[in-house]
Amino acid sequence: MDFKEYITVVPDFPKEGILFKDITTLMENGQVYKHAIDEMAKFAQAKNVDVVVGPEARGFVVGCPVSYVLGVGFVPVRKAGKLPREVIEIQYGLEYGKDTLTMHKDSIKPGQRVLITDDLLATGGTIEATIQMVEKLGGVVAGIAFLIELSYLNGRDKLGQYDVFSLTTY
Ligand code: PRP
Ligand code: MG
Repeated sequence: MDFKEYITVVPDFPKEGILFKDITTLMENGQVYKHAIDEMAKFAQAKNVDVVVGPEARGFVVGCPVSYVLGVGFVPVRKAGKLPREVIEIQYGLEYGKDTLTMHKDSIKPGQRVLITDDLLATGGTIEATIQMVEKLGGVVAGIAFLIELSYLNGRDKLGQYDVFSLTTY
C-alpha cells in the first residue's frame, strides 16, 4: 500500500516554507489507518516490548493503537504543565520552534523495554528528547517507529544507534 496517497501535503503550514504532512486524511480512512498501525506494531512484535511511549499530540494517535495491538501499556510524553504528578522534563528543538517535554517520573520501570512512536521524524529533536527521558528513567529503547520520515532533514542521524522504522519516507 502506498500510504502517501492518503497523506495530504499542505504547503506553508504552520509557517512559510514548511510542507506540512497532514495525516488526518489517512486517519479518516479506517482500513488505511488500521493497516498503518498494524505495520508499525509488526515492527515491534519481535522486540519484546513492555511499554509504548509517544509524545503528544500526534504521537498518541499512532502510539495508543500500537500499544493496544501489542497488548502493552502506553506512556504519554506531554508538553510542560500537563502532567499532574512528579515529572522529569527536557528542553528540545523543533523543526519550527522550541519547547519542553515531560514524563511522569514513575512511568517507566528500570529495565523495561520501550517502543517509542511518533507520527513524524523531522529534525529528530522530539524523539531525541524522548529517548533521553526514557533512558534517564532506566528504560531500554528497543525500537523507534514512525509513520513518516522526512529524510531531507536528517533526523535519523541523531538516532544512529537505535533500530528505527518508518512506514513512508519523503
Ligand atoms: C510534530 C510531529 C513530531 C515532531 C517532529 O509535532 O508530530 O512530533 O513535530 O519534529 P522533529 O523531528 O523536528 O522534532 P509538534 O511538536 O508539531 O506537535 P503535535 O504532535 O502536538 O502536533
Ligand atoms: Mg508531534
